Amino acid sequence: MNYKAPRGTHDIFLGDAMSISFLEFKAKEILKKYGFEEIRTPIFEDADLFVRSIGSNTDIVEKEMYIFEDKKGRKLALRPEGTASLVRAFIEHKIYNLMPTGKFFYIGEMFRYERPQLGRYRQFHQIGAEFFGNSSPSADAEMIILAHDLLSSIGINNTSIYINSLGCEKCRPHFRNALIEYFGPTKDLCNNCCRRLKKNPLRLLDCKIDSYKFINIPQILNYLCIKCRDNFDTLQVLLKGVNCSFNIDKKLVRGLDYYTQTVFEIRSSDLESKDTLIAGGRYDNLIKELGGPNTPAVGFALGSQRVLLVAKKQKLFSNLKKTEKILIAIANQELFSIAFSFAIKMLRNGLKGDKNISVFCPKNTENLTNQLKFADKIKASKVIIFAKDEFKKGKLLVKNMHNGIQSEDFINNFF
Ligand code: HAM
Repeated sequence: MNYKAPRGTHDIFLGDAMSISFLEFKAKEILKKYGFEEIRTPIFEDADLFVRSIGSNTDIVEKEMYIFEDKKGRKLALRPEGTASLVRAFIEHKIYNLMPTGKFFYIGEMFRYERPQLGRYRQFHQIGAEFFGNSSPSADAEMIILAHDLLSSIGINNTSIYINSLGCEKCRPHFRNALIEYFGPTKDLCNNCCRRLKKNPLRLLDCKIDSYKFINIPQILNYLCIKCRDNFDTLQVLLKGVNCSFNIDKKLVRGLDYYTQTVFEIRSSDLESKDTLIAGGRYDNLIKELGGPNTPAVGFALGSQRVLLVAKKQKLFSNLKKTEKILIAIANQELFSIAFSFAIKMLRNGLKGDKNISVFCPKNTENLTNQLKFADKIKASKVIIFAKDEFKKGKLLVKNMHNGIQSEDFINNFF
């Protein structure tokens, strides 16, 4: 039988595994600096949670969810994103009482049945951050700056920030009506657009087939109410105040329905597909709509694989410090258990205080030649050998695998 990883999924190993761990490590450092606390939610949820939050007329819900029934006939879905799960957990556990900062982050796999291509997978990793309870545009600015800092902390440059406002429940209906009027009977639209026109005309702005026809289309920014306009202006002032450059993308609507007011994306010219590296926005109604207290919120998610593609293109992680490997070997079988204890002690305490090492325990099934061959294979920097004559003098042999030079040292000197 010839099994392969399912289409659109990947085994991540060697340098890629190191890079993704490094990215997550750096992200945690920055997120903690901004006051975010980690939350882990299940990989699957009640399918209806995503339908209600992401929106029934979105691509994700219409065609990309992995839905299945469990043995009791419950309809579940592999999470296509993390925001809905976090909101569900926030309401279910009254997290607003337990974690009053309102700042949460999550790291994990998401699942979408998309057509696989470079940077677009069916299982992918996101690092997401959500800020609950702050309706000020300063929270939007903070999230945009945080998102940008996540990328610069690992050295990614050449990124551009795009922002837009989608208005609120007061002003958006006017824009919606303007769109319906614009698309009206005259435009020749694809089936999807025709279907969505009545229910959710904003989705038409996202259409890959028809968008070239949309000339002089109404712009949401011309329909914002005073409050939404003020917030959008303040956001820009705050970003400019910290020299965070951005572009206004008047067509930016995002593929999820829960957004209100600010939406944003960070893209990189080094990502061939022109897909986003990070995307997010404000969603002031979602928590209330899912049964929680009226709580404004803003957040984003970073796609780890896309960030790694850009990092590779910019040759960023090529010199990630590799851990030094040390093999403990035996020249004489009777020294095996002593050598094993020595290896465990070194695993726990490091070598002369250096803990950034990997220690490989001795094998009593291999002769010394084979143990040295193994050291070569795993690219060990040194082999510490327990040999009878030297051991009687309280010493061990140390073979430097880079230059082949062998020396002796007293056992006590290793710790
Ligand atoms: P999203 O735009 O659907 O937003 O995804 C966020 C990021 O996940 C994208 O910018 C991209 O880097 C990555 N991503 C999405 N789909 C794929 C895929 N098929 N393969 C690889 N990477 C992908 C959300 O998920 C929202 N929950 C973001 C958010 C959080 N909004 C508010 N809070």
